[in-house]
Amino acid sequence: MNLTIFGASKGIGYEVLTRALNDDFNVTALFRKPEKLQLTHERLTIVTGDFLDFSSVKEAAKEADAIVVTVGALPGRKPVRLFSTGTQHLLRAINETSRNPLILAVTGIGAGDSRGHGSFFYNRFFQPALLNKIYEDKDRQEELLMRTYQKWIIVRPGMLTNGKETGVYRTLTDYNDIKGGKISRADTAHFILSQIKNPTFIRKTPLLIY
Ligand SMILES: NC(=O)c1ccc[n+]([C@@H]2O[C@H](COP(=O)([O-])OP(=O)(O)OC[C@H]3O[C@@H](n4cnc5c(N)ncnc54)[C@H](OP(=O)(O)O)[C@@H]3O)[C@@H](O)[C@H]2O)c1
Repeated sequence: MNLTIFGASKGIGYEVLTRALNDDFNVTALFRKPEKLQLTHERLTIVTGDFLDFSSVKEAAKEADAIVVTVGALPGRKPVRLFSTGTQHLLRAINETSRNPLILAVTGIGAGDSRGHGSFFYNRFFQPALLNKIYEDKDRQEELLMRTYQKWIIVRPGMLTNGKETGVYRTLTDYNDIKGGKISRADTAHFILSQIKNPTFIRKTPLLIY
């Protein structure tokens, strides 16, 4: 199976990359600075480019059976278009092929109808003050996928940690009574790989927390 990852240089994306190579996937990953990657593998193809550049997105996605989007932006007050513009490029690129890959996009707790389900501090201070621009664009990204594509899973992790993979976490689509929670990047990657192999959350928005 051919897997393409956008955002694989670190964090969740890197955790997906290493697991996918161990699992015998053919992996294509788009890097802005490929020299930062301390890893070579016979089943790893690197595309140098940017999620904001259509031609490199197209090149990276052209043979994909599954696509994982884990790109991230720095918190701040500047407008963010990374998530929606990159996803727009991705959907256009897929449309120009005859393929119909599963897209797994990582957004986060606070996107779409999970807004208000973080912790008190997150809902009242962190998201409005620091993450608002990011989450406005994650909302646009989610809406774009839901409206214009069929085969997607939107993965909404709680607060990320660098803890180990446990394989034991909750995958919630009903957020009632949820007030935040944590999940490791490793377990988020574990969930993503499990869904690529056996997708049970297509057109769903699972929230991942312990
Ligand atoms: N932090 C949290 O608690 C939390 C909670 C829920 C959800 N999330 C979301 O989870 C996702 C992953 O977060 P993370 O902390 O694991 O990873 P991260 O450290 O945010 O890594 C982001 C990745 O995106 C890449 N990237 C950024 N801009 C790019 C561009 N224009 N073109 C191509 N690649 C680009 C980076 O590559 P470079 O090496 O080139 O910079 C890096 O590989 C993010 O969307 C984040 O918002 C975070």
